[in-house]
Amino acid sequence: MTNPRTSRPHLRTVSITGVGSYVPDRILSNADLEKLVETSDEWITSRTGIKERRIAAEGETTSDMATAAARKALERAGVTAAELDLIIVATITPDMPFPSTACLVQHRLGASRAAAFDIEAACSGFVYALDIGSHFVACHTYNTVLVIGAEKMSSVVDWKDRNTCVLFGDGAGAAVLQNRPAAHGLLTTCLGSDGAKAGLLEVRGGGSACPATAKSVSEGMHFLRMDGKETFKNAVNAMVTAATEALERCGLNIAQIRCIIPHQANQRILSAVAERLGAGPDQVFSNVDRYGNTSAASVAIALDEAVGAGRIHRGDLVLLVVFGAGLTWGAAVIEW
Ligand code: UT7
Repeated sequence: MTNPRTSRPHLRTVSITGVGSYVPDRILSNADLEKLVETSDEWITSRTGIKERRIAAEGETTSDMATAAARKALERAGVTAAELDLIIVATITPDMPFPSTACLVQHRLGASRAAAFDIEAACSGFVYALDIGSHFVACHTYNTVLVIGAEKMSSVVDWKDRNTCVLFGDGAGAAVLQNRPAAHGLLTTCLGSDGAKAGLLEVRGGGSACPATAKSVSEGMHFLRMDGKETFKNAVNAMVTAATEALERCGLNIAQIRCIIPHQANQRILSAVAERLGAGPDQVFSNVDRYGNTSAASVAIALDEAVGAGRIHRGDLVLLVVFGAGLTWGAAVIEW
């Protein structure tokens, strides 16, 4: 096994020293959705593997969920908010267009020394943020970086569109990045994008192309729309490509990976990716049945749950692999 990152001697190793997650209390089951749109538990379960998802409380924001996840990650890392140098929040459902959700989290945590900004790579956001944040630590710019994936997808879902409303949920996950000289930590990350396919999955309204007007609201331009079939195919291909490239860079094969944490979009996508990578079902972590697709929060929540469930131990090799709107995709290999 090689660590492509630290083969350059001026770079430091970067470890995840604490993870945490938060999901709202309110559960929306498939039976609840049967009352909203023409669907069935049977259809949702067989096509997606999703049984229920969490929905933020009235007034509960993305920054609220991000802050809750961050507090747990800081506690587990043994780090105080005052020690943070940088906070990066990956989200497509920020509290507002600006200021950034990261700045709101910075204030809520009392991270008085930290710089803060958001990044947007849709469901790939957490791995993008992990990659960006890790470079600040590797390059000696900062010692302690907090990366968060947080989404209130219920705020952009059209609850009359059965093609999408059954898929998404709310939540947040966070990780603290630090240099731990003895550990290997993050071995590699690879990211990709294809803006030619931007139209497959989008929220059209609310930006400079289509500012909010009474007309844009009445036409449902602020809701998420997706070509599910095409997105599905692109997701499987991109995740397999990203995972394969990440493993090759580290001189690893799939059998050496203890835990694969794919973006939790659809159980059929997870299974197809695992099959094409030659991974066994016991290697793949899934919680899509309980949370649905929480976009940028998805792999962060899953990572925290996998650690909590004893699926990942010190020294284990972990593969994160993600895909989302943009299109965007990415993978990360971590020696825990
Ligand atoms: O996070 C970013 C990545 N996101 C993804 O990767 C999601 C990718 N896409 C998917 O997961 C799947 O394409 C879906 C779950 C969205 C759809 O599954 P599918 O097997 O591709 O179904 P489909 O789109 O081909 O729809 C089949 C039928 C259609 O009816 P007709 O046109 O064949 O009569 C849909 O109208 O199922 C219908 N349908 C539903 N029926 C009951 C669509 N949604 C529902 C529903 N309940 N909720």
